[in-house]
Amino acid sequence: MNMSLLLRARDTRQGASAIIASVLLVFTVSSVSSMEVVVTPLINALNGTMVKISCTFTSCYKMDISKFAMNWTYQETKNDTEEMFMTFKNRITPLRTDRFGDRVKFAGNLDKNDLSITISDVQLSDEGIYKCSVRNPPDRVEGHGSIQLSVVTELPPPRDSTIAVAVGASVGGMLALVILTMVIIKCVRRHKKQELISDEQKMEEEGKTDGDGGTEEGTKQI
Ligand SMILES: *[C@@H]1O[C@H](CO)[C@@H](O)[C@H](O)[C@H]1NC(C)=O
Ligand SMILES: *[C@@H]1O[C@H](CO)[C@@H](O)[C@H](O)[C@H]1NC(C)=O
Ligand SMILES: *[C@@H]1O[C@H](CO)[C@@H](O)[C@H](O)[C@H]1NC(C)=O
Repeated sequence: MNMSLLLRARDTRQGASAIIASVLLVFTVSSVSSMEVVVTPLINALNGTMVKISCTFTSCYKMDISKFAMNWTYQETKNDTEEMFMTFKNRITPLRTDRFGDRVKFAGNLDKNDLSITISDVQLSDEGIYKCSVRNPPDRVEGHGSIQLSVVTELPPPRDSTIAVAVGASVGGMLALVILTMVIIKCVRRHKKQELISDEQKMEEEGKTDGDGGTEEGTKQI
């Protein structure tokens, strides 16, 4: 497996890189779960156009269709109840709602951990908070992404939006890189733990040993 190859390569070159790696580990173990959901937290859309609301996730585990779970919900404000408009039951299932009719479509790709949706002919009444939540067992942590959608009737002046997009893109890019790095480190660490366990007591099934070495919160739910 390439994760363990990576690990061995790292182990042979100790010294400085080991120090950096352990600093990173200490930093990430406390703050990172193995499930990360990446969204654009604020989206502005022009009335009447189609808007894409993206949501992707990273996980140490390949998606198992029989255990995977996902929900998309909408709430007008924080005070309102969440209204589910899409879910996953062996496949993506849109739930018809009065608000969206058939304007909401799945636009992601499960093979790429992409759960994005589009809303066509977006209305002022579509403004609100969109949430995607993901469960990818045996990952014990449930992932959540929250997107605030605003609908405008006029685009802001082009110069401002260009700057905003440039700044947003570079911040977003860096954030994605940081998250990716942290997830890889976490996954490597997890696999190392597995190797240790399997060396000691040969050997339990992968899915079972996986979940047991947690420093992260979360309850066993298998
Ligand atoms: C939004 O767009 C629809 C159709 O494109 C139009 O009928 C409606 O007046 C627009 N609403 C506003 C507030 O501009
Ligand atoms: C939500 O409810 C609280 C009190 O119940 C209220 O103070 C607040 O203004 C409400 N927020 C919105 C956005 O309606
Ligand atoms: C989706 O919603 C259902 C029903 O409310 C709930 O039982 C399930 O845990 C939710 N799944 C996720 C991944 O949030």
